[in-house]
Amino acid sequence: MSRNAEELADHIRERTGNTEVRVGLVLGSGLGHLAESVTGTAIPYSDLPGFPHAGVSGHNPNLVVGTLEGCPVAILGGRAHYYEKGDAAAMRLPLEVLKALGAESLILTNAAGSMRPEMGPGEIMALEDHINFSGLNPLIGEPTDARFVPMTDAHDEGLRARLHAAAKAAEVTLHEGVYAWYSGPSFETRAEIRAIRGLGADAVGMSTVPEVILARFLGLRVAAVSVITNMAAGMSDERISHSHTKAMAPIGAAKLERVLRGALAGL
Ligand code: HPA
Repeated sequence: MSRNAEELADHIRERTGNTEVRVGLVLGSGLGHLAESVTGTAIPYSDLPGFPHAGVSGHNPNLVVGTLEGCPVAILGGRAHYYEKGDAAAMRLPLEVLKALGAESLILTNAAGSMRPEMGPGEIMALEDHINFSGLNPLIGEPTDARFVPMTDAHDEGLRARLHAAAKAAEVTLHEGVYAWYSGPSFETRAEIRAIRGLGADAVGMSTVPEVILARFLGLRVAAVSVITNMAAGMSDERISHSHTKAMAPIGAAKLERVLRGALAGL
């Protein structure tokens, strides 16, 4: 853990009145609503040196520390992506801070394109596993042997079981599948989508995988859920665009919120 992360955690504890944190949450594009319904303290990233500045949508996100369904949480209301500055480890410091605040588990959310015809826009998918289609890794340059992180069971079975139980209780369909990380920021070609479908991916997006790797490096249990905003390139006649992603995200986000709330209750 870097000294910087410990210092930031001290600063955050001062501002939040020493609130305990058990679960960290990272909210993807268009999924920011959840942070607004938390009872707690919001700290703008701009007050936290080393946190990513203006997110993809241009506004300055917050770290929110408080409780959701009785569970002590810290929510990262926006993430840095590899494609912004070419840094796969851009989320390392924020995740280290969650760990320093006491988080044991991390739930990541994202917007993604679907490669499964029956899983269309508005559906949600828990990540059973992932494919790093980028060839990049946030631990490149990490000097310690801790960099050799096993990834065989990276997506925590217990957390996923909680998500599925919560989905069932909320009568929401929660698909399960493999997410492929594509660096972005351009979207994929049709041939790339055919290729990653052939490799066994069910959804594609530009985030999350580096955070899963970092979370496992930090010893956090991790689960991730995709909100499907579009069919992947070549899978439908619809044009893929960032504005379409943002417009579609709230549809699945409402389902995601019910599932997350259910999963956090009692965690
Ligand atoms: N590809 C990559 N990232 C995405 C997509 C997609 O189709 N949709 C939302 N994020």
